[in-house]
Amino acid sequence: MCGIVAKVSSENVLPFLIEGLKRLEYRGYDSAGVAVLQNGKIVVTKQKGKVNELEKLLDENPIGGNVGIGHTRWATHGKPDNINAHPHMCNDQSLALVHNGIIENYQALKDILIEKGYTFLGQTDTEVLVNFIDFIKKSEKLNTLEAVKLALKEAVGAYAIVLFDKDIPDSLIAARKSSPMVLGIGIDALYIASDVTPIVKYTNKIIYLNDEEVVVANKNAEYSISNLKNQAITPIIQEIEVKIEALEKGGYDHFMLKEIFQQPSTITDSMRGRINTDENWVHLNGVEDNLSRFLKAKRIIIVGCGTSWHSGLIGEYMIEDLARIPVEVEYASEFRYRNPIISEKDIVIAISQSGETADTVAALELAKEKGAFLYGVVNVVGSSIARLVHSGSYIHAGPEIGVASTKAFTSQIVILLLIALRLGKAKGTIDERKYIELISALESVPSKVQTILENIDQIKYIASEIKDHNNAIYLGRGISFPVALEGALKLKEISYIHAEGYPAAEMKHGPIALIDEDMPVFVIATNERAYEKIISNVQEVKARKGKVIAIVPFGEKIISKIADHCIFIPEIEDEISPLLSVIPLQLLSYYVSVMRGCDVDQPRNLAKSVTVE
Ligand code: M6R
Repeated sequence: MCGIVAKVSSENVLPFLIEGLKRLEYRGYDSAGVAVLQNGKIVVTKQKGKVNELEKLLDENPIGGNVGIGHTRWATHGKPDNINAHPHMCNDQSLALVHNGIIENYQALKDILIEKGYTFLGQTDTEVLVNFIDFIKKSEKLNTLEAVKLALKEAVGAYAIVLFDKDIPDSLIAARKSSPMVLGIGIDALYIASDVTPIVKYTNKIIYLNDEEVVVANKNAEYSISNLKNQAITPIIQEIEVKIEALEKGGYDHFMLKEIFQQPSTITDSMRGRINTDENWVHLNGVEDNLSRFLKAKRIIIVGCGTSWHSGLIGEYMIEDLARIPVEVEYASEFRYRNPIISEKDIVIAISQSGETADTVAALELAKEKGAFLYGVVNVVGSSIARLVHSGSYIHAGPEIGVASTKAFTSQIVILLLIALRLGKAKGTIDERKYIELISALESVPSKVQTILENIDQIKYIASEIKDHNNAIYLGRGISFPVALEGALKLKEISYIHAEGYPAAEMKHGPIALIDEDMPVFVIATNERAYEKIISNVQEVKARKGKVIAIVPFGEKIISKIADHCIFIPEIEDEISPLLSVIPLQLLSYYVSVMRGCDVDQPRNLAKSVTVE
C-alpha cells in the first residue's frame, strides 16, 4: 500500500510527480503529498484526500524544483489527515522523506528521539524514521547516505523510502526492504517509483531494487547502488514493455468496467501459445521445466489472499479432480503464523495479481525456508513474488487498476486449469476424451464471455432491483462455491453491501435463518454435477420468501421457473464454468456500485496492493 514516486533531473519535476501519483493512486488514496527542493529550501505540499485535491492546492500555490518526491497514502500509523500525510521532514527541515511499509520498532525509536529533544507533529512511523536518520547523521557525524544505511540497519519492518537532503541539491537516496521499488533510467533524468506505471511513459529501462539495497541518483542521470553492508551492487537493467494505453480507461467510465470487458482478450492472452487444439497439447514452460518435481509432489499447497485465494479454491477442485494430487488452499496470512507442516516434497503455488501482497510474500519465504518448491501465478512482471519463486507462469492479464480484481481472477483460473490438465495428462489421471474436450472448451471461453457481456440491460435491471438492499447471500456448490465467495466479495468491496458466500447445502446449517423477502440470494447453478441438489436449495430459499437471482445455462428449465430472475449464460464443461459464471456477478457488482454512488475504482478503506501485514 502507498505509492511512492520521485524524480531528479535538470528540469522541474513537479508535473511528473503529480502524473505519477495519479498512476499510483490505486495503491492508496487517503492523502497525497509532494516535496521539492526550491531555492535551497524543502517545500512540502500535502493534503488529505485524493491526488486531485493535492493538484488543486498546487495550482493555487505552485511549487517547483529539479529534485522531488511524492506519496499517495493508505494509512497504517495515524489517521488519514494533513499532518500524517507524507512527505515528512525532520525537525530542522533538512531532510524530506516518503515511505511505504511499516517500521515496527518505531515506538522504541521515537522514545529515544523524544529523550534527545526531537518533537513530533503526527503519529506516523515515517516521521520517526526521517528524524532518526537526522539524529544518526548528526550524532555520529556521518554523511546522509551513511546515516540512512545505519538507520535502516536499526529499523525493524518493511520499507521503501525515498528522501533528499536540502544540502545535497541534485540527488535522491532510495532504499527498500520487503516493499517494492523500481529505478527508471532516462537519458537525462532518473525516476523512482513503487512500480513501473509512472515511469513507462519516459523510459523502458528499469532496475528492480532488491531488499536492503540503497540507490543514490543524481540530476545527470548517474546512479550507484550498494547494500546496507556497503557492498557495491551491479544492477541488472531490464527493458520492459507496458503500453501507455493499458494504463488508461480507454473510453470506459471506470477501470473496473474496462477490465471486465477486456476479459475475452485477457483470457485469450493467458492461454496464448500454451494450448493447441489441433494437436491437443497444453504447455506451460514453468511446469514443463519442473515436470518431474510436480509429478513426484506429495501435495500442492496454494496460498493467496482475497480474490486470488478464491481462484486458488477453484484450482483445488481442478487439480484434485484432473491430476489427483492432494491440494490444500490456505489464506497466506493464516498459513504463515500457524507453524505449518511443509517439506521438500511439497509444491507451494502462490497466486497474486500484484505479486506484492505482503502476506503471500511472507508465506512463500516461510515455505522456501522449509525447502518447498515455489511456483508463482502472478500478473505483474518483475514483482516481488515473481522474483521470489523458483518458477511460475505469468497470467498476462495486463495492468489491473480497479481495486476490485476481475480480469486477473479469470486469467488465474485459466493458468490453474492448464496446470491441472498438463499434470493430469502426464499422470494419466485424465482420460483422453475428457482432456480433448476441456482443451477445446477452454478455447471457446473468450467468445462465450463476449456473449455474456452483451447482456448488459438485464444485468443493469437486476442491479437496480437489489441496489437498496443491505445484505445478500451467494450460493454455489462444488466448483461454483468459490464463485459464490468471489461474487460476495465483489459486492461488498465496491458497494458496501454486506454479502456472504456459502456452499449452498451448508445454508440450512445456519444462514437460512437470515432469509426473508428482503434477502437477495444469488445462486450459481451452472455446474451439472451439482444441478439436482441445487434445485432443492433454490426451493428452500423460495419457501422462505427469499428473492432468487440464478445464473443458469441457456435452455435450463427448472430453476428458471422458480427464480425471480435468471441470467442465462452459455453452456460449458463444469471444470470451466467459473470462467463464465463469474462474469455476470462482476457486472452486477459494478452496476450496483455505480447506482449507489460509490467510488467503484477506489472503494473506501481499500488499496489495490496490500503490501503491509
Ligand atoms: O495482488 P493480490 O492478488 O495478491 O491481491 C490479493 C487481494 O488483496 C485482492 O485479491 C483483493 O481481495 C481484491 N481487492 C479483490 O477484489
